[in-house]
Amino acid sequence: MRKTPQKKPAPRRVGTKLTRLLAAAPANTPAPAARPRGPAPLSHWLLYCRTGFEKDCAEEAISHARMQRPVLAEQPKTLADSGYALVAINEQSLVYRELIFARQLIRLHQTIEALPERDRLTPILAALPPGTFSALWLEVPDTNEGKTLSSFTRRFHPLLETVLKEQGRLIDDIRLPRLHVFFPDKSTAMTGISDPCNSSPYIMGIHRQSMPPEAPSRSTLKLAEAIDVFLDKGEQKRLLRAGMTAVDLGAAPGGWTWQMVRREMRVTAVDNGPMKGAMAKHPLVEHLRQDGFRFIPRRAADWLICDMVEKPARVSELIGNWFAHGWCRHAIFNLKLPMKQRIVAVNAALNGIRSRLDMEGMNYRMSAKQLYHDREEVTVFLTRTRN
Ligand SMILES: C[S@@+](CC[C@H](N)C(=O)[O-])C[C@H]1O[C@@H](n2cnc3c(N)ncnc32)[C@H](O)[C@@H]1O
Repeated sequence: MRKTPQKKPAPRRVGTKLTRLLAAAPANTPAPAARPRGPAPLSHWLLYCRTGFEKDCAEEAISHARMQRPVLAEQPKTLADSGYALVAINEQSLVYRELIFARQLIRLHQTIEALPERDRLTPILAALPPGTFSALWLEVPDTNEGKTLSSFTRRFHPLLETVLKEQGRLIDDIRLPRLHVFFPDKSTAMTGISDPCNSSPYIMGIHRQSMPPEAPSRSTLKLAEAIDVFLDKGEQKRLLRAGMTAVDLGAAPGGWTWQMVRREMRVTAVDNGPMKGAMAKHPLVEHLRQDGFRFIPRRAADWLICDMVEKPARVSELIGNWFAHGWCRHAIFNLKLPMKQRIVAVNAALNGIRSRLDMEGMNYRMSAKQLYHDREEVTVFLTRTRN
């Protein structure tokens, strides 16, 4: 569901430290009624992302906004390796599931700087957005500095929650926005809200998975996360059933294969490397030591999963081929990112698949995300649809 653009005043800034970050944004924008012909008011968005991907995250969000209308606002600077990005747009909307690099999408309300150590509660309460909320999430960046703040947020959470409950502002209704208080460092807080229909359902936008001891590699967590992120519970039941078949290209040592086998699916695991542990001699696994780019299945599989370390352009061509030939119905695959021009590389790969499937007159759904368990890569889900 597309989010209707909200027209609220731009976030108010208190203090000094992050001022350089937000310098481009005016502190207050007049209400729309006061400026019937002027540009739409600014809205500021706070996006969480993997450390090192702040620029990609901001650039991607701005390019989505730009596709709707020109972005007039000068952009806040991104802080390298901060684990978050800020963007300023006008009346455009951002759609969480269309953003590859954003882990979370928060409409920023205020930034408070120079938080006093002895009383953080009073300025934070004064900086909260109006209204009622379904949840209170106190969050920190997914960085080493962020980790050092989590004991503070654990202690602070009940204090703020108690006040909000007393004020009747925390209500058990999942349709209400969530209230976020984000601490980029110990003296700064950013307040804002997320729309439950247009955001990640996980705190800090991180869907953690615990490592199954029997799985042969940590890569298994990536596929487990992808299944949860791209498929709702009904789709997981319907599309990943016992007796279905999968081809795993670049399967060794077998973490992805293990996810399919644990659902009692039959897997053809293609890799010149060895399968390990329980996946080495499992009755549901056929291991073929072949080149994944040359492999042609004897019969169509329900799933193609592919984690080969290769150029995104090569992988996307392969995926387009598999769908065009009808060799699979659904796929989850990784696109390994180059060091530079990551957005360009990902978009080129995804557009390559789109043009191939459009040429075939195929209906499909495709989503891509940089998952928590992804490193220099993004994960893509592609499925054929009926209409
Ligand atoms: C990141 S690992 C895959 C890990 C696996 N998904 C797991 O969960 O254990 C990449 C694998 O791709 C394989 N690979 C790379 N190029 C390949 C190719 N052309 N054909 C088959 N396998 C390939 C490598 O041998 C390696 O085992």
